[in-house]
Amino acid sequence: MLILGIETSCDETSAAVVDDGRKALSNVIASQIKIHRKFSGVVPEIASRAHVLAVNRVVDEALRQAGMAIEDIGGRIEAVAYTRGPGLAGALLVGQIAAQTIAFLRGVPLVDVNHVEGHLYAALLEHPDLEPPFLCLVVSGGHTELIAVDSFGSYRYLGGTRDDAAGEAFDKVAKLLRLPYPGGPVIDSLARTADPAAVAFPRPYLKGSWDFSFSGLKTAVVNHVMKNPALIGNRRRVADVAASFQQSVIDTLMEKTFAAAREYRLPHIVIGGGVSANSALRSQFAARARREKMKVYLPGLAYCTDNAAMIAAAACFKFRATGGAAEETTQRIDPGMKLTNWKQQVTYER
Ligand code: KG4
Ligand code: ZN
Repeated sequence: MLILGIETSCDETSAAVVDDGRKALSNVIASQIKIHRKFSGVVPEIASRAHVLAVNRVVDEALRQAGMAIEDIGGRIEAVAYTRGPGLAGALLVGQIAAQTIAFLRGVPLVDVNHVEGHLYAALLEHPDLEPPFLCLVVSGGHTELIAVDSFGSYRYLGGTRDDAAGEAFDKVAKLLRLPYPGGPVIDSLARTADPAAVAFPRPYLKGSWDFSFSGLKTAVVNHVMKNPALIGNRRRVADVAASFQQSVIDTLMEKTFAAAREYRLPHIVIGGGVSANSALRSQFAARARREKMKVYLPGLAYCTDNAAMIAAAACFKFRATGGAAEETTQRIDPGMKLTNWKQQVTYER
């Protein structure tokens, strides 16, 4: 089953054509990073406008790269999916209106997808044999969540961030170290040649809970920089701080994820979200899984950060289970959307 997916929840305009939820025929991403970099973060109004300018071109290109055209929607392409939330309201609206219009004009069903759910399914595009049950760690700019996926559309929410998400912590620490936005990839590459044990930052394990909290770690980095102002401008010392911070995030994520995998007897661990692109995180999770006789499934790098292929992948399983959105033409975006089980309509509130 072919689905066209559209994703515009934050600062990437993306469209993709995905077959059976597991094979991306195309995945076009127009990134706005350059536009937002001078503000050191995403400016919502600028993001919405950039989505408006890009969305038609991105959809056309995704169809073209899949060897298709708009006329194939309603033929080979059987449904259109979009990110309904969570995300920036104006940004979400652009993708929703585009998807709703195409679905209505081409007479195909519309499938609404939760963005976090998209990250849960991204690894399927890399590992076509992957099946639930598995434990999923979603680590992105807005989320750090541990979710037990018992079957497609059947989730148990174990815990999540109480304050800063992991990616948000990367971005804020990078800003503090006067590194460009987004901080994650920059810290990742600086850390490769630095000493992760240079500074002993805390590991916020929050014992007895599956929740995460990275704001204290961020404060520890702030305090370290305030006590050692001369380090800013010294590339080697900045890299050591970056590597030490990164190692604290990875240790915390790893400790809790593997503990949850043991507790819930879910030896297959899936990771998704922008931070899953981190090279040290990828190799350390894989090595630990080998030691603990578990298995880690990572998305390919193109499917870690926001992309429409993961939305179309999730949509395929959701469409098969539910038949798509009930009120296709009146459905509204949901900027604070919670993860919901497809069948029982159980919503997970934080
Ligand atoms: O999933 P995503 O594209 O957007 C959200 O849903 O939030 O994640 C973006 C986040 C940013 O905070 C960015 O700094 C982080 O993912 N990120 C990384 C890496 N690449 C992106 N963090 C650590 N290492 C990376 N290589
Ligand atoms: Zn995301």
